[in-house]
Amino acid sequence: MEKRDLRDLGIISLPGDPGYGSRFKELFNSRLYSVHQRIFPDGETYIRLIDELQDEKKLLIIQSMFPEQDRRFFEILQILDILDSYDKDIYLLILYMAYARQDKVFLRGEPVSARVVIRHITQNSKVKKIYVAEPHSDYVSKEFDRVHAINLIRIMGETLREKWILRRPIIVSPDQGGAERAKTLSEIFDTEYLVFRKYRDRYTGSIKTEAPENIDSVRERETIIVDDILSTGGTIAEVASILRRSGSEKIYVLCAHCLFVSDALNRVLSSGIDKIFCGNTVKRFIDDPHIEYIDLSSRVGLYLAEKLV
Ligand code: R5P
Repeated sequence: MEKRDLRDLGIISLPGDPGYGSRFKELFNSRLYSVHQRIFPDGETYIRLIDELQDEKKLLIIQSMFPEQDRRFFEILQILDILDSYDKDIYLLILYMAYARQDKVFLRGEPVSARVVIRHITQNSKVKKIYVAEPHSDYVSKEFDRVHAINLIRIMGETLREKWILRRPIIVSPDQGGAERAKTLSEIFDTEYLVFRKYRDRYTGSIKTEAPENIDSVRERETIIVDDILSTGGTIAEVASILRRSGSEKIYVLCAHCLFVSDALNRVLSSGIDKIFCGNTVKRFIDDPHIEYIDLSSRVGLYLAEKLV
């Protein structure tokens, strides 16, 4: 494993971190600070930084905001409050940013929840930069100077490309919003991509998916559906069923954040998916032969090392 010496960096791993803190400690030869977390009987969140902070100039906080999105968000605000009295350069890595999908007002009377999250993290805090791993859209990085997106789909694609020989895969985006991800992956696999159209009923949440006109090109081909989030599995299942009916030979999924809410796995598998490649960005790992987690910690660590020196 390639290493970087970053002794001037302390790492604080929050309760949502799926293990990047200990990985980075090894990778950077940095000190890892532990946080004690408990929940009060009435449901309130408590955290305490156990160790006394040493003389590192920089601190990297690591959090992922699933499961228990609101609690994970509040822990970020709490640690920033704790760190307020220290003279340190503070950086935050959010491996999965919750509420990123509400990046605009879709229906009158709604908040822009993505803005709420970042505003509260940046307001009155000394955090210098927030690195968000594969945010749903470029809204947060465009809107807030301190936010930088990390392109996990590129890292996952390159990792897979090294070890996986596919004949002529076609890359598929389930919706227009994911077209850039499909393009990135198609460049890595040196192939073409298709973009489906997805319509969501903003009142009921139900979705309707339409295949592109050139859907016939998937016949007897392997397809890779790429998406940022797999939540209920509805989006992927809809697209997979159409691909299957259109003659796709094998259907793979590549997804950065696999939340697998309720019966998402069954739903996706019964639509005819052969394999799901997930990033290890949330603290929910499902042991199933159809799922392969790609450990992104070293590549994300090396990316950050370039930025934090
Ligand atoms: C939405 O536009 C996202 O990119 C994902 O496609 C969506 O969040 C997946 O959700 P679900 O698995 O519930 O369909």
